[in-house]
Order: sequence, then structure tokens, then C-alpha cells
Amino acid sequence: MKVRLFTIAAVLFPLWATAQRLSVDINNWQFSRDQQHWQQVKVPHDWAIAGPFDKKWDLQYVAIAQNGETEKTEKSGRSGALPWIGRGYYRTHIDGTRLQGKRVVLAFDGAMADPHVFVNGKEAGRWAYGYNAFRINITPFIKPGNNLIEVNLNNLEESSRWYPGGGIYRPVHLIATSPIAIDDRSVFCHTISVNDKEAVLGVSAALTDSSNQKLTYTLKDCQGRTVASAEGTGQLSLRVANPKLWSPDHPYLYTLTVAYNDGGRCRDAYSLKTGIRTLTIGKEGVRLNGRPLPIKGVCLHHDLGPLGAAVNKAAIIRQVNILKDMGANAIRTSHNMPSQTQMQVYDSLGIVVMAESFDMWLYPKCQNGYARLFKDWADRDITNLVLANRNHPSLIMYSIGNEIPEQWSDQGREIARHLQDLCHRLDPTRMVTQGMDRPDDALKSGFAQVMDIPGFNYRVWKYPKDISHLTCGYLLGSETASTISSRGVYKFPVTWGANITYPDGQCNGYDTQWCPWSNLPEEDFIAQSDASYTIGQFVWTGFDYLGEPTPYDSYWPARSSYFGICDLAGLPKDRYYLYRSVWNTKENTVHVLPHWTWPGREGQITPVFVYTSYPSAELFINGKSMGKRTKLSITDGEYNTGRPATPSDAERRAARYRLMWNDIKYEPGELKVICYDDSGNQAAEISEHTAGKACAIKLQADRDTIQADGSDLAYITVFLTDKDGYPIPTAEDELQFTVSGAGTFKAVCNGDATSLESFVKPQMKLFSGKLVVTIQATEQKGDIMLKVNDVNQPQLSAEMRLIAE
Ligand code: GAL
Repeated sequence: MKVRLFTIAAVLFPLWATAQRLSVDINNWQFSRDQQHWQQVKVPHDWAIAGPFDKKWDLQYVAIAQNGETEKTEKSGRSGALPWIGRGYYRTHIDGTRLQGKRVVLAFDGAMADPHVFVNGKEAGRWAYGYNAFRINITPFIKPGNNLIEVNLNNLEESSRWYPGGGIYRPVHLIATSPIAIDDRSVFCHTISVNDKEAVLGVSAALTDSSNQKLTYTLKDCQGRTVASAEGTGQLSLRVANPKLWSPDHPYLYTLTVAYNDGGRCRDAYSLKTGIRTLTIGKEGVRLNGRPLPIKGVCLHHDLGPLGAAVNKAAIIRQVNILKDMGANAIRTSHNMPSQTQMQVYDSLGIVVMAESFDMWLYPKCQNGYARLFKDWADRDITNLVLANRNHPSLIMYSIGNEIPEQWSDQGREIARHLQDLCHRLDPTRMVTQGMDRPDDALKSGFAQVMDIPGFNYRVWKYPKDISHLTCGYLLGSETASTISSRGVYKFPVTWGANITYPDGQCNGYDTQWCPWSNLPEEDFIAQSDASYTIGQFVWTGFDYLGEPTPYDSYWPARSSYFGICDLAGLPKDRYYLYRSVWNTKENTVHVLPHWTWPGREGQITPVFVYTSYPSAELFINGKSMGKRTKLSITDGEYNTGRPATPSDAERRAARYRLMWNDIKYEPGELKVICYDDSGNQAAEISEHTAGKACAIKLQADRDTIQADGSDLAYITVFLTDKDGYPIPTAEDELQFTVSGAGTFKAVCNGDATSLESFVKPQMKLFSGKLVVTIQATEQKGDIMLKVNDVNQPQLSAEMRLIAE
């Protein structure tokens, strides 16, 4: 294959003439798995997401200790059943002519994994952990003219408990400055105090040569007006009159510019977005700008479902919008460092973040995991985590680990202390947590007490005992729920309990299933509302993710999780509305389940649940009242039993949050729900209908206009309707997609954890009546056409027009 040379000269030179600092995206690369066959790719890139799915990839024969397993069994989909293992090679070219005499740095936001960076054949640097941002100073290696940049990656088998992806999956920038310039990682801006009239910010930065020169700091509001400035050395104060505070409801961002002037000339200037806000965490909970912010959070893995690990701003924006509408206000980046793309979206849309780092320290959870690297790399990894993120107003706490096996030991406690101290030294403004799954051991060894914020994973029933050992007087549900369900799948009879599986590899959509270590959402709702020492929770997980198909770890095919509140395609499961009914305090929620198309179930018990923010509702079937239900109140005493919830505890407690009609016999027709408010007035009504034969394909886009920037996305939900327009909840039709004009087909996903259909082939079956097609913008403005055909019913087709501008 003929190799094309790529240069950044065209981008570089015009910019270079006007600015002292140059920062360019390096996104055109060639990629190869074998250094023989090269393909042109755009970074961010995940080489494995195109599949094919196969259980042979990273087939693990292990006992998962965290799940209480003692015997090894085959774990086929544990890391996603996608080809991410092995080596991958990237190369690109840059023109070094204008870079002579400059300080040139390659800034990677993460590369999976073990990136070794070569310039003109010489190794310029490496970073071991695939999840961290790192920089390589390539100044000594750059020559005038053409320079070859190569990045070699290697992923080891059994190095992950989930799908990590493979490749340069986050952006790469080339930063060129004068030799003496602002060290952008040294820039630190934080709020010292805020009162009615004024905010005081602390700002500091250093030069790359560590010399003690004066620096100028300028803060501008979002209209570009200067609101504060200061000049000097060391930490300075910026006083901002009438500050606009950052919060999830008003994520107001300022721009801070640090300038280095020498002899009246600006030698370097570096800008970043930041926010003004105060944060305290203590017995009185989390307070942002003095107001309570009970953490209603979700854990998120880094993958973006059918896009894999390749980070994409539009995909993250979609996630945040879905989560915020549910009423969530926080994200835990489990169990690794967030990308800057993510953090920028979180800052600008307003959601607070726990930025995590490690899933293991010295003691391995999987054979080739981070434990191999911990001794040599942990401090460097924490340093990069903090320096990369400490200016983000959305960041509220660091996490130094998840379910670290050594939480019982003195050594574990001292490591915790060490890593936490390191975070404090680099960022004295934020507290540190970690998620502990062995509370008794961690409290005995003092591991838990060391932490600024003791975080406990699951075992809510132990919170009352845990808190009695904590002098700080508060704790965090660092990981909660792990309820499992499949979107739109309902199993009869409806059973409540742990460890329930079915022959088809699906979980019950009635939200009645959990794992031996986990629980239903209600347990956590109760802990958060009744035990004021619980400062918040992070639900496992906001979205399904690739890998870890518990409870089907040993079942093939199962290759993605069932824990998500939304499925892998981003479609809300019923559980979404249960959280929304409690968490979204601004808008009402009314949702009924299951769907009402059950040919063959006539006369059989088909329970009906309603998830609503209203206290009571009445159910009607074909106009006949099935009775009124009201949410029950359950006292502290009942919850505080000192043992895990039994299935009947769980069902009883659910009645505090769900309205349930357990003895309904199915008959086709109309299911109607009327909700009543606190005064008993009719407040809302919804209905669900038995659907007939498919008559039409319906397309619903999340946006009808996208940016012609080559990376923006539109997500189109596809489903079938009958002649009356009722959606067909059980449709499994195979559909085909054609995209033309100013966009391309990017991916498709139906949320079925057992599907082996490719995400990148424009053809897929509906799962529980739905799927989501993702279309990507090109750099051309204009119309984008999506055409959808039913493979087996040619009379069914639909078209949609989107605009790229
Ligand atoms: C936790 C763990 C998560 C995930 C989850 C599944 O113990 O921290 O990474 O494995 O269990 O329930």
C-alpha cells in the first residue's frame, strides 16, 4: 500500500505567526496491527470496536474473587469479546522546520495501552497505564523537515475486568512554545472565598525553566470582559466583583489567561476555562456554594457503547443530558482517569465528578492488571490525574482506588495515606475517597478512617455499623445498587432476589434482580433519605458498558453489562424512571411497565408497576379500575435490620417508591394510569396499548442539526408502529441503514447484551422493539439523509433528513 505523508504544516504556520504558543490536534494517523498493512484513521480511534465479537478474545478461565467465586470457570465476555488484545501501531508525520528552537511536547490524553512514543526511530518516552494523560517532550528529537512520529501499543490478556478498548482512543495534541514558557500543568486556579459581593481566587503558575519571573493573570467572563487581573510571582489573588458562581444548574465558566511578558513582549500566554465555586464536605453533607448538594450520582465506565473507547464529545454530551434529565448531578469515572473531553463537557453542562484512578494497587484482581505497574507508576499516575484535572470546577473529589484487595492490611492503610497525601499536596482544595467493599476489614485496619471521605461499595445494611466507627461522622455510597435488568424484557413469574438467571441470557425488566453483593435502588434511596450521614451515592452504572456481563459471566454469548440504568445504546430501561421519580425534583415522572402486547398471555398474571413522582395512582384496564395504590412509608427501624435484604424485605421496601399491582391478569387493549397528587387531585395520565401488526418504521433523532466538524453525532432511535401509531415493543425485525449526503453511518446498537451483530455494519435487528443508529458529520455542510429498510418486509421503510451546518 502506498503510504501518504501527513504534515501539519498547513495548520501550523499561519497560527505560528500570530501566537507564541501553538497547540494543534494530531488526528490523522496510519494504523496497523502488524506493521505490514496500514490503514488511514482518525484519532480518537479504537481498533477493536469493529469486532468481530468472538469468545476467543481474552477468554479468561478464572474465579472472580470480588464476586465471591472460589472455583475457576470460563469467562467468555468478561472483557467484551472484542479483539483488543495484542499490539497496535500508529504513525504520522509532522513538519519540524518551524519547530526548531521551540519546546515541543506531545500531549496524549490516554492511549491503550503501554504507549511507547518514537520520533524518527528513537524512543522519546512511554507511559504504562492506558487510562492516564501523559506528555512526552520531543524537543531533542525534532529535526527540520519531515519527522516520523510512531506510537506502539500493547494490550496484555487478562489485564482488565471489562472492555478497555485498544488504540489512541483519546486526543493527541502537539504543543510548541518558546523554551521558556508557561508550564501549563503548573497552572492552578481555585476559589478561596465567596461572599455576596466578591469572590477571591488563588492563582499560580510556573515557567518551564522554574525561574521566578513575574506572570500576569487575567480573568474574563463569558462575554470576553476582563473581570480581574493581577501580576507578580508565586500565588496571587484575583478579586472578582459580583461573581457568577458555577453550579450544576448554572455552569458558568470564566477564562483565565496566564501570560509571560519579557521586555515588554508577550513571550507566552496560556488560557483555560474555570469556574468560581465553594465546596465543603462534612457532617452536613456536600455543600456547593453553601447549598446542599446530596450526591445523586452514577458510575460510568469510559466506553461509549457502540463507539467503543474512542472518546467523542457529542456522545458524552448525550450521556450527560440523559443523566441530568433523570435528576443525576454526579458522575464517578470508574475506575480510571477521565478524559479532558469528558471533563470539559462536565464543566460546561454542569455535573459534578469523582475522578478515579485505579482498580487495584499491589494485589492483582486480574493476572496482568495494574498491580504489575503500581510500585513504579502509582505516584506518577496520581500526579498526572491531579495536574490534568484540578482546574475543572466540576471536579469535587479524587478517588485513589476501587475495592482495593489490601484494605484489611496495615500496608494498605499506609498506601492509602500516601496516595491521599499526594493528592493533597498537588491540590489542597479537594478531598479524597475510595470505594471499599470490605467495610469490616477496612474499619479494623484503619484503612477507612484514613480517608477524607470514607466510601463504601454496596452493603448498605452495614452503613449504621460503619458510621459508628467513623469519627468524621459521614460516609459516601461510593458504589451502589448493581441492580440488573434488560431493557424491555419481562420475565414471569416476577421473582425478587439475587443470582436469578434465564436460558436466554437476559435479566428481568421489572427491576427485581440483584447480585449476591448488591441490592435494588430502594435500599440506597432509603439510606440517602433516612440516614443523614450518607452524603450521597454513585449507582453502578448509568449506562451499560462492554464486558462484565454479570450474572452471565460464564454464559455465551453475553458480552456487555446488565447493570446500566440505560442500555448500551443509551436507551433508558424502566429503572431510569424509578431513579427519575426520586431524583428529578423539578419535573414529574409517570412511567408504567411492562408493555402491553402479550399475545398468548391472556388471563395470566402480569404484574403492573408504576414509577412516578406522585404519591398515588389508579390503574385501569380497558376502562375497568384495578384499584388505587399509594406509596407506603417505611420506618428507619425496619430498614436498620443489620442484615442484607431478603427478597421479601426488598419487595416490601420497594412499595415505598413503586406502585405495584401484582395480581393483574393480562387482557389485550388499553392500560391506563391516572396519578394523584398530595391533595388527591388527578395530576397526570398515561396509557399503554396492545400493538397490532407492523405498519411503519419510525425514526426519532435526538437532534436535527449537527455541526459539520467531522466528529459531531446524531442519535436516531428506530422502532416500528402499527396502523394506529402504537409502538411494537416486541419487534425483532432486521433493518438496514443507508446514510448519504453530508454525514456517514457511524454505528448501530440495540442494547442486547447477547447480540453478536457488528456495531459498525449498517444492519441490525431490533431488540425489544428498538435500536439506535449513530450518524457522524463530515466536514461538509448540507443535508444528511438516513434511509431505513426492513430486510424481510420490503414495504416497510422510512427516511429522515438532518442538517450539518
Ligand atoms: C463492584 C466493582 C465494579 C463492578 C461491580 C459489579 O464490586 O467495583 O467494578 O464489578 O462490582 O457489581
